[in-house]
Amino acid sequence: MRVGVLTGGGDCPGLNAVIRSVVRKGAQEYGWEFTGIADGWGGAVKGVTRPLDVAAVRGILPLGGTILGSSRTNPLRIDGGIDRIRETLRDQEIDALVVIGGEDTLSVASALADAGVDLVGVPKTIDNDVGGTDYTFGFDTAVGIATEAIDRLHTTAESHKRTLVVEVMGRHSGWIALHAGVAGGANAILIPEVEFDVDRVCAWVERRFEINYAPIVVVAEGAVPRAGQMVVKDESRDEFGHVRLSGIGDWLARELESRTRKEARTTVLGHVQRGGTPSAYDRWLATRFGLHAVDALRDGAFGTMTALRGTDVVRVPLAEVAGTNKRVPMELYEEFDVFFGT
Ligand code: F6P
Repeated sequence: MRVGVLTGGGDCPGLNAVIRSVVRKGAQEYGWEFTGIADGWGGAVKGVTRPLDVAAVRGILPLGGTILGSSRTNPLRIDGGIDRIRETLRDQEIDALVVIGGEDTLSVASALADAGVDLVGVPKTIDNDVGGTDYTFGFDTAVGIATEAIDRLHTTAESHKRTLVVEVMGRHSGWIALHAGVAGGANAILIPEVEFDVDRVCAWVERRFEINYAPIVVVAEGAVPRAGQMVVKDESRDEFGHVRLSGIGDWLARELESRTRKEARTTVLGHVQRGGTPSAYDRWLATRFGLHAVDALRDGAFGTMTALRGTDVVRVPLAEVAGTNKRVPMELYEEFDVFFGT
């Protein structure tokens, strides 16, 4: 059997670890052959592929990014997109696919599976917002990077007695903000799931100065102020209709500075959170997902996705996951109330 492998959407640390484990197990245990599909659904539509064998995946375990390339191409918005993917699979004699992606890439995978293409999905994203799985790989690395940044910002904030606002990724969900904010001892954490009240954030900032410490405010890029519009620098949208975010951190720092009369600055962590070598945990999870994806293909469990439940890797139907978004529950967010403003 020949298996095509593709990585779609925003890249994240651990993608290469999945590719490696899929190829190693498929080739070594089952004698399968592999074809790498370049740049996610973009390469699938255009028929751009590259050879993928055990030699090609040697040494890639600790590498960030993806050796296959990625894109946000949405074949469902391209005329005849699904048929062109079928043509590529036919031309390359690919029998089944392993699709590694986040909510958008996996929604396309679900539609393709419904159209009869044999495939298995593997969830990835630094945002940890794919439904059906407790965690995605990439998240642990991103949280580590953001936490280290917050640790560093504490000392400079204290030296200058400034408010420092840290904007982290998280379009629809505040998992990175919450985990890194808690781990880094932030004094306010603002997430997309809960509209924030600027007056309340000001009160937290002032309280922190009163006790002679400088405040660190962690804000997810998708967080919005109460009764306000989402603040964006750029109104353009990608092929899945997502607006390009970034701007809430700057906006919030300006508001805090003018309302509290204390100097405020912003650090936007941006793509630094997505780049570079994966953490040990992400390599572990990505490797397990790859191994289980191969078993799912072997068992003919098409149209499913590998998912983490507790410490077990299970299979969930892609149809159950497509179009959903795993958000931070209110009760979890509220667990940390005691740290805000203190
Ligand atoms: O989907 C993951 C993510 O990291 C989001 O948090 C962020 O909004 C987006 O990717 C940025 O994507 P791009 O690199 O395509 O601008």
